[in-house]
Amino acid sequence: MFQRVDHVGIAVRDLDAAIGFYERTFGVTLEHRETVEEQGVEEALFRVGESRIQLLRPLGPETPVGRFIERRGEGVHHVGYGVSDLKGALEQLEAAGVRLIDAEPRPGSRGTMVAFVHPKSAGGVLVELVQE
Ligand code: CO
Repeated sequence: MFQRVDHVGIAVRDLDAAIGFYERTFGVTLEHRETVEEQGVEEALFRVGESRIQLLRPLGPETPVGRFIERRGEGVHHVGYGVSDLKGALEQLEAAGVRLIDAEPRPGSRGTMVAFVHPKSAGGVLVELVQE
């Protein structure tokens, strides 16, 4: 089902500061920046080999990432895995009794379709499936 690690999502309070830190400290170059209203985030993507780092700034305290930072502080929020057939993957997971946050694919950034798997069903890790 998983074809690659698409990205690691990291929750930050100050996106500009975090972008500057990643550029200066790790020598990565900003590839893409986008506000995804539906997910309540502004995100910045850095390419690292065939994967990406995705910095996520919540658009407000009552968004999923805003609540995450409130509870647990800044840090790793989720891991995104590339899949070739998102709908098929969701059906397969549902049949296996895995708890899904999204039963249906929804729009992600860069024109992708995405769906989240509940961390309670995935060893405490919020898993995102991404189809290009
Ligand atoms: Co993501």
